[in-house]
Amino acid sequence: MIPKQILFLATAILLGTSALAQQTKAQFLNSLIAKMTLDEKVGQLNLLTSFMDQTGPFMKDDYVSDIEKGRCGAIFNAYTPQFTRKLQDMAMKTRLKIPLLFGYDVIHGHKTIFPIPLGEACTWDLALMEKSARIAAVEASADGLHWTYSPMADIARDPRWGRVAEGVGEDTWLGVQVAKAKVKGYQGTDLSAANTILACVKHFALYGAAEAGRDYNTVDMSRIRMLETYLPPYKAAIDAGAATVMTSFNEIDGVPATGNKWLLTDLLRKQWGFKGFVVTDYTSINEMINHGVVKDEYEAGGLALRAGVDMDMQGSVFAGHIAGLLKDKKITQKEIDQAVYRVLEAKYNLGLFKNPYLYCDTVRAQRDIMNEEHLQVAKDIAVRSIVLLKNEGDVLPLRKQGSIALIGPLADSKRDMIGNWSAAGDWQKAVTLLDGLKAKSGGSVKISYAPGAYVTGDTAMLRKLLNYRKLEPADTANAAQMQAEAVALARSADVVIMALGESQGMTGEAASRTDIGIPANQKALLKAVLATGKPVVLVLTNGRPMTLEWEDANVPAILETWFLGTQAGHAIADVLFGDYNPAGKLTMTFPRNEGQIPIYYNSKHTGRPIDPNNKYSSKYLDAPNTPLYPFGYGLSYTQFSYSNLRVSRAQMAANGSLEVSVTVTNTGKYDGEEVVQLYVQDLVGSVTRPVKELKGFKKIFLPKGANQIVSFRIAAADLKFYNSDLKFINEPGACKVFVGSNSRDVQEADFELMR
Ligand code: BGC
Repeated sequence: MIPKQILFLATAILLGTSALAQQTKAQFLNSLIAKMTLDEKVGQLNLLTSFMDQTGPFMKDDYVSDIEKGRCGAIFNAYTPQFTRKLQDMAMKTRLKIPLLFGYDVIHGHKTIFPIPLGEACTWDLALMEKSARIAAVEASADGLHWTYSPMADIARDPRWGRVAEGVGEDTWLGVQVAKAKVKGYQGTDLSAANTILACVKHFALYGAAEAGRDYNTVDMSRIRMLETYLPPYKAAIDAGAATVMTSFNEIDGVPATGNKWLLTDLLRKQWGFKGFVVTDYTSINEMINHGVVKDEYEAGGLALRAGVDMDMQGSVFAGHIAGLLKDKKITQKEIDQAVYRVLEAKYNLGLFKNPYLYCDTVRAQRDIMNEEHLQVAKDIAVRSIVLLKNEGDVLPLRKQGSIALIGPLADSKRDMIGNWSAAGDWQKAVTLLDGLKAKSGGSVKISYAPGAYVTGDTAMLRKLLNYRKLEPADTANAAQMQAEAVALARSADVVIMALGESQGMTGEAASRTDIGIPANQKALLKAVLATGKPVVLVLTNGRPMTLEWEDANVPAILETWFLGTQAGHAIADVLFGDYNPAGKLTMTFPRNEGQIPIYYNSKHTGRPIDPNNKYSSKYLDAPNTPLYPFGYGLSYTQFSYSNLRVSRAQMAANGSLEVSVTVTNTGKYDGEEVVQLYVQDLVGSVTRPVKELKGFKKIFLPKGANQIVSFRIAAADLKFYNSDLKFINEPGACKVFVGSNSRDVQEADFELMR
């Protein structure tokens, strides 16, 4: 035992050192700011893209001269130790030698690409999600980067929105857990270490709620929904220490996020205590003119700075107008200095003032990027992200014998394996399904391949996907012949694997769709192949929930594989042949058709819940209310049964908790993993409550025939909600708890929350 006094002394010393460090930092930064001209200060608030990548419209083509003149404090879309060193050298030749900050979209891996976040979330494995962020940070920092534009914490309930691929789906509780894990993974415990980078939680706020799922569209929602459903994941990232925040393109209560003082100052800084810096999204200050809240860039710049923006991404509005705004007294020197302080502080925390070249280490780049260990983790995560949607007659797993026809435009497309927002991802190293099957079967299975179709037959869409270039004859030639060849191949094989879905460009930013099914030409190919009568396994590559009602009714086996990343083909092959028993569970509801959108599991009852015998109840004439595949859903090659749901007591004290337990048994023929999910419902509240809310899960492994008692603790705090006065409270009364293998198939028990 360490005596109390010594502990006390040690704590005091530690606190003393950190207070001293804070003081030294503040002294350093304040004395630097005191030396800066207005021009140099404005430079620190100016973030410009290099020409290495393009993630939005170009506005300026002379970023190099801006760096040389000290008029640019940060660069994005520039990486490699050599290139960042070259640019940093320029900054070191400016009067005050303030180092540049290098940012980039390291969304699901840097060079080693992991599954898209929506796919990775289906692992329900928080440790793995933290690990992929850690690896992304190791690789990005080895490649000259200091700052990632991740995690995207936008809750999304409309699969028409292409960016659902970049988030973790529809659920707030899960979103909170993942946001924390990601920030921890990127930032580690010491930002000044050479292998940690700044996280940037985005897009603050509510970007995922664009009306009609159309990217950049208007958002409008109640405060209760905002506070309860949409804001918690951003807050969780900030509580976990996220160093930066990116504003969103949309408006909130009629004011664009980038000029929204309530959002960026009252909520973010005053209520949540955020201490880092706020960067805009790409040209979102300028876009406030189109929103119609300011008449020109001058007004836009003033609105943004006063609202709490610190750094202007690519818009050059701060660069062009801060001096004038200050002269006209539209903004204050204090507001400018505060923003400059925050930006410089981030650079200080990264250790850049001590060593501006800390992240420009070519030896590390050689050693740390795409090494064996990283590829192995990418594969581990990829297998766990796969969701088995259907497996009638146990078509899967396949036996390693006979012949397989692999058909489809996504069967051998390296670029599509790593998906959208894979920025620096090295797609040429990606493993396709064809590669994976060949490697796995080792010659014992005859594998033949035909593309069978283009990814889309819609030429208008194709032009957009090809960035509006003129279509060449080769882009659409011989479609009928391709299909005929594929059908012939199917006839000659024992089993057919159809690799269909979306190309990487069909999801992500600026990639909203109103028809979220498999493109018509691919569907025609699928029908033609099914008509051969051969057993068909549909392997989907895509970035959003799709409408698969026809496929579910007609194809015996369906595997959802998302965009799985660098190791995609190996991972899918492992699952197809049963070397890994799939355990992924959806984190976003799959609707039956687009007319059901938005559809999500934790909806409200309404005053007229669906009643099949009552015309005047909440339902459709032409479709059920239920989705095709609910939130939390995913099959295994084995089966799990749930029994004996128990709550440790019927009443929960006002500040108390209780234990919920259930027995899970593996009743099938394979060992397997299961995600046991816990939901609650508050039956009567002063404001209406969702029919179910996820509050916990446990991922367990059960050998065939084995069973396990799985238990959870729910506390009164888990039942809190926002009332009409926007107070986060508990209300006593009857509650239900549900446990099951998805949000639909659950056992339930009752308890009461006491006063
Ligand atoms: C996107 C952001 C991204 C930024 C920088 C924007 O268009 O909305 O998510 O981080 O570009 O590339």
